[in-house]
Amino acid sequence: MKALQALALSFAYDETPLFSGVSFALAEGEWVSVTGPSGSGKSTLCLLLSGVIPRSLELGKRSGKVLLFGEDIAGLSLAKVASQLGLMLQEPDSQLFSPLVEDEIAFGPENLCLPRDEIGERIERALRLTGMNAKRMADTDALSGGQKQLIALAAVLAMEPRVLILDEAFAMLDEAAEEQMLQVLRCLKAQGTAILTVEHEPRRLAAADRILRLDAGRLEEVGL
Ligand SMILES: Nc1ncnc2c1ncn2[C@@H]1O[C@H](COP(=O)(O)OP(=O)(O)OP(=O)(O)O)[C@@H](O)[C@H]1O
Ligand SMILES: [Mg+2]
Repeated sequence: MKALQALALSFAYDETPLFSGVSFALAEGEWVSVTGPSGSGKSTLCLLLSGVIPRSLELGKRSGKVLLFGEDIAGLSLAKVASQLGLMLQEPDSQLFSPLVEDEIAFGPENLCLPRDEIGERIERALRLTGMNAKRMADTDALSGGQKQLIALAAVLAMEPRVLILDEAFAMLDEAAEEQMLQVLRCLKAQGTAILTVEHEPRRLAAADRILRLDAGRLEEVGL
């Protein structure tokens, strides 16, 4: 079964369609990267694929469907979506809301009502994977842009989602952190996680199995 599917997805914020007839499928253990010019709608596509539009952001006109493990995402409870799909936004500031790093990462697993020990283990694992152990008790506001991206990523990883959507998650990372994160994603992919990344950088695009390009309202597969 496909992890995530877009079926003839069309969207417009206003009268002008942003994209139309977008269809693709992402399998478990597959890594697809979406590229395309600024303003082509990549971030909007991420919001639709994760169900944030229309669940949390009721805007624009849509048609088509998004299926998460074969089920229409619009009909799933927020708890079900949150336990299966992790979204990291392009702007980490719009994702982070806890004053303390540890609380930020604990928030998701706490909402899954996991046992306390398990929550602690997940926080530790997520911080280790992102190389952010030293920042566990740090003030989120005091972090650099790249560190905020790593904490936002850690918060997503702590949910252990089977589908991961990362919108330009590496844009503010230095080279060492970027290489570490690519390695983490390769490892998750090998364990069956379905990954969708939005990317510009050719070096990082090369890490994906397939590249899709969103341009002038159409999504098309391009060569690696
Ligand atoms: N909430 C909104 N209301 C109205 N228009 C919006 C909204 N969010 C984005 N847009 C517009 O929709 C278009 C697509 O934006 P989007 O952020 O999805 O593009 P993008 O491909 O992610 O761009 P970038 O590469 O710069 O991140 C842009 O013209 C943008 O100005
Ligand atoms: Mg964007």
